[in-house]
Amino acid sequence: MNSDIQIAGDPLAIPHLLPPAPAHPSTVSAFAGLARSLAADRAGWAPLVQYDATSRWYHRLRTGPGYEVWLLSWVPGQGSGAHDHGASSGVLTVLEGELTERVGHGERHSLRAGAQRVFAPGYVHDVVNDALEPAVSLHIYFPGLTDMPMHPSQDAVRERAEGRVPDAPDTLDVLGG
Ligand SMILES: [Fe+2]
Repeated sequence: MNSDIQIAGDPLAIPHLLPPAPAHPSTVSAFAGLARSLAADRAGWAPLVQYDATSRWYHRLRTGPGYEVWLLSWVPGQGSGAHDHGASSGVLTVLEGELTERVGHGERHSLRAGAQRVFAPGYVHDVVNDALEPAVSLHIYFPGLTDMPMHPSQDAVRERAEGRVPDAPDTLDVLGG
């Protein structure tokens, strides 16, 4: 019996029949792949990293049609506060150190170097460096991040429910993982 390959030929054996490789990612898995390839290029990002104890440091590493790539650093104790990402989806990749992502009611994910999280619009999380060493992470947002609404932390919600007022508002960083 003839298979499609027998009828049409094997396109993998005839390079000019293959569709051109896209210059930019357009799917979630392709964005995750872009993040992995950028993460592997340590010489491309490591010299750019700075640590700032007063405010979380971030640097726009690259832009493309409909997406942005950011490099962030986190000294121990720095965190984003609970937030979503407006209309953006994203890929978070830890490059160095360890970050803790808190989602929902007490769910925690320890993210070591190489770990990735993918999220859609509306996803709420709180990312913090709970470790004793600085951390570096790579964030791709598609479309680019234009809005990052902050959410009350679960601690604040609990304190309000108990009639207590939180001591301080949540951290209002521009980028939050
Ligand atoms: Fe985030």
